[in-house]
Amino acid sequence: MKVVVVGSGGREHALAQVLGRTAEVVVTPGNAGIPGSTPVPVEELVADGSVDLVVVGPEQPLVDGLADRLRAQGVRVFGPGADGARLEGSKAFMKELLAAARIPTARFGVFEDEEDALAFLRALPGPYVVKTDGLAAGKGVLVTADLAEAEADVRDKLSGTAFGDAGRRVVVEEYLSGPEVSVFAVCDGERTVCLPPAQDFKRVGDGDEGPNTGGMGAWSPLPFAPEDLAQQVAETFIEPTLAELRSRGIDYRGVLYAGLMLTSDGPKLLEYNVRFGDPDSQVVLVRMESDLAELLSAAADGDLRTVDAPFFSDQTAVLVVAASEGYPVSPRTGDRIEGVDDAEGVDGASVLFAGVTVDGTGSLVTSGGRVLNVIGTGADAAEARTRAYDALSHVTWPGMHHRADIAAPEPTISQELSRR
Ligand code: AMP
Ligand code: GLY
Repeated sequence: MKVVVVGSGGREHALAQVLGRTAEVVVTPGNAGIPGSTPVPVEELVADGSVDLVVVGPEQPLVDGLADRLRAQGVRVFGPGADGARLEGSKAFMKELLAAARIPTARFGVFEDEEDALAFLRALPGPYVVKTDGLAAGKGVLVTADLAEAEADVRDKLSGTAFGDAGRRVVVEEYLSGPEVSVFAVCDGERTVCLPPAQDFKRVGDGDEGPNTGGMGAWSPLPFAPEDLAQQVAETFIEPTLAELRSRGIDYRGVLYAGLMLTSDGPKLLEYNVRFGDPDSQVVLVRMESDLAELLSAAADGDLRTVDAPFFSDQTAVLVVAASEGYPVSPRTGDRIEGVDDAEGVDGASVLFAGVTVDGTGSLVTSGGRVLNVIGTGADAAEARTRAYDALSHVTWPGMHHRADIAAPEPTISQELSRR
């Protein structure tokens, strides 16, 4: 089987690696650290009819209709059309669909009018959550306990000053609390197979301090998640969503990424993404022991019944992102990366590349905010974590930073007391 993966980050590196166990894989455009990367556009790669499956990594091309254009050429594609991709492209569309399908989510209102939005906001108990309707590169969400700050944010978003047109409609919603988990649901338009949950660490600093990022680390499996969470998510969230989409004429073949909060009231959906998470899917994909290419092809063909349920190693995977100076605010690029070979030499560790390129001398240099991911696998979280951080200790470039607390055990009460 020949597979083309579209995208250029760590998620695409993981997809290419795991698909590559059973298929021939090309990645477009990929990056300097992903084997099989080529700058040739996907439309050209599929032109001779030799490609069996295209897997689209990021949301933007899906929102822009890449999957529709390829399907119109007779290509088998894993990834929703532009209609289904609206689940990520428009939070208002997503929330209205959740309400119609009676899926547990935060109470919300959708507004274009400032006074209506402010009135709804002021009636909430707080903290406050204000989101842009459109894609805002992960930066369109404000969570604050300060009503004045939330009000100012509503005004900035609706006036178009903060996020342009993506902000001219806002979703204001009830604040939820609890651990956040990611569940990736492989969908064939009608049926779903949910992969084991992962957790993403979104803030830039240790202890969840500092600005939001695309994700600074991840781990899977999650000892605190209910044993049957994947099944519960399939039944309570994904199947009703697919049925609601179908009733609107939308045949969703791709991954639905459920961002869930495990509240005291049960799991609630924070958001859907229409693609695998980055970096959170990487710790799930590397644990997969069954055939990923076969699974995604069956979903793309609209019939998951033709494949056996996927299975996963019971090892734990812990991923730590190494980011460039200034990320996430203003990442510096062009710094020379050292020590990757030594990192890969650590037992149970591997490196996946996200924002890298080669300079004029052929050296690997940084080209983005999130530069590379180190994954450690081990018998439990402690071993996986030790391996990941051991490998990471070999990697360096000027200004590199990473979190030190990915998958760290919660401080126990006795540790907390002994610190006082
Ligand atoms: P989103 O892009 O919708 O996933 O939001 C980004 C982040 O904001 C989430 O990962 C949560 O940490 C936080 N968040 C979003 N919605 C809520 C909510 N209703 N209550 C509390 N936190 C939220
Ligand atoms: N890491 C979160 C995401 O992929 O959206």
